[in-house]
Amino acid sequence: MSVEHVCKNRIAIMASGKGSNLQAILKAAASGACPVDVRLVLSDARNAGALTIARDAGVSQVSSLNPKDYRDRTTFDLACAKHIEAAHCDWVVLAGYMRILSSPFVARFRHRIINIHPALLPSFPGAHAVRDALEYGVKITGVTVHLVDEVLDGGPILAQTSVPVRDDDTEESLHNRIHTAEHALYPTTLKRMLASGFRVTDRTITWGGGNISE
Ligand code: GRF
Repeated sequence: MSVEHVCKNRIAIMASGKGSNLQAILKAAASGACPVDVRLVLSDARNAGALTIARDAGVSQVSSLNPKDYRDRTTFDLACAKHIEAAHCDWVVLAGYMRILSSPFVARFRHRIINIHPALLPSFPGAHAVRDALEYGVKITGVTVHLVDEVLDGGPILAQTSVPVRDDDTEESLHNRIHTAEHALYPTTLKRMLASGFRVTDRTITWGGGNISE
């Protein structure tokens, strides 16, 4: 199956943690380096650093929803989807969002959910990618930006960059260098996505075929 995308630039960012990728995207947006319009920042964690970063940057809608207030994953995701649609967002950008998205949410935003993962997928999917890569003993790891589908860290790949592993790396030192690579790759990939669009054919992304249109 092939789906072509003509790209609009309004994005919702979902984040659970400290928010350094969110910060990199907001910085790139503010400088004009990345033409995204961050309409909404949504978190599943009330104390997430990402929320403070978003408020400080003046994002117009910053919200957190508590999963415990909802009867199940699908109901929680539906509440998130309503926020995203109310903010008229064209894209859902995951930036350290630590919950697995339910199938109805993925289907609702098919090919419009982007994630960043701290390894070269399909190696080391899951929540401990940096530790797993280090323990496996790889000499090169990296960063993947990909579309989200129903398979955890399994969607079509938009962009990757490599990060060498040093002999004396700890999980922390390696993740710091991976973060640096992420902060460059995420805004660059979003910019490319909006500027040129892409086509999805099965698992393969082909760039081109769309321009920003309001
Ligand atoms: C990043 O390493 C990202 O790849 C992973 O979660 C981490 C989030 O970091 N999905 P931050 O909250 O953006 O600093």
